[in-house]
Amino acid sequence: MSTLEILDLHVEVEGKEILKGVTLIVNQGEVHALMGPNGSGKSTLSYAIMGHSKYKITGGNILVDGKSVIGLPANERAKLGIFLGFQYPHEISGVGISNFLRTALASNGKTIPGAIEFHKLLKEEMQKLGMPEEFLKRGLNQGFSGGEKKRSEVLQLSVLKPKFAILDEPDSGTDVDGLKAVALGVKEAVAKNKTGVLLITHYNKILEYVKPDFVHIIVDGKIVKSGDAKLAREIENAGYEKISKAIFPFRESGDSRYVGVAA
Ligand SMILES: Nc1ncnc2c1ncn2[C@@H]1O[C@H](COP(=O)(O)OP(=O)(O)OP(=O)(O)O)[C@@H](O)[C@H]1O
Ligand SMILES: [Mg+2]
Repeated sequence: MSTLEILDLHVEVEGKEILKGVTLIVNQGEVHALMGPNGSGKSTLSYAIMGHSKYKITGGNILVDGKSVIGLPANERAKLGIFLGFQYPHEISGVGISNFLRTALASNGKTIPGAIEFHKLLKEEMQKLGMPEEFLKRGLNQGFSGGEKKRSEVLQLSVLKPKFAILDEPDSGTDVDGLKAVALGVKEAVAKNKTGVLLITHYNKILEYVKPDFVHIIVDGKIVKSGDAKLAREIENAGYEKISKAIFPFRESGDSRYVGVAA
């Protein structure tokens, strides 16, 4: 079984330490939800895993099947089976979804179905995601609305069948039907392709469909609590303030030694 290991990861952005020792191990076929307040480092973690050059690894390691990916460019990481669904997906004009995905499959060393077969597959997957076929005529994400972009990320996930997917708020901006479609797409990737998922979200709703095996809470660049699906419901009801006070009983005292230190 494949594993994605993030070990004591420290990451700096523009000279500022954002991740302060994150450890997470995702096995293929598992769903790990990652929740945390705005600015706690969730997107930073996803960019660092994918190898964005702005995010400097100053300590720790990221391993796929025991092999470090530190220093590898994003395309090499993709070849090893890592996929990133962006919080804010980019628009690529001039490259249609179909060409983009065929090229991605080829560069990942996967078999590319014939043009007709591929078109049929895309149409089927797009239908499940409630995406009109005419989107195939546009550039990737070009002029797509926020929710449409999220559906497009999940379409890529279903076609590329990565070993591991980091999905940065796939539910944000989706309408009620979009949320369900996106969630079912993720669920199918886990069940059918055994993709291991790190699902970043602010809301429990998506987790009602994509049942997480683990839920982790990140605060100020550190995982401060891990648990099962119940933890996500707790967060939704109580908010981070209450939970982080319980975790950091000394924070209020202003003693900086205790800020960012898990109980
Ligand atoms: N390129 C950058 N330059 C300067 N600061 C950055 C940069 N990227 C991230 N940061 C800072 O790092 C911190 C973590 O940001 P990050 O985007 O990882 O948060 P997040 O947990 O994903 O938040 P959200 O829930 O709002 O998406 C923030 O304080 C942010 O301002
Ligand atoms: Mg983010």
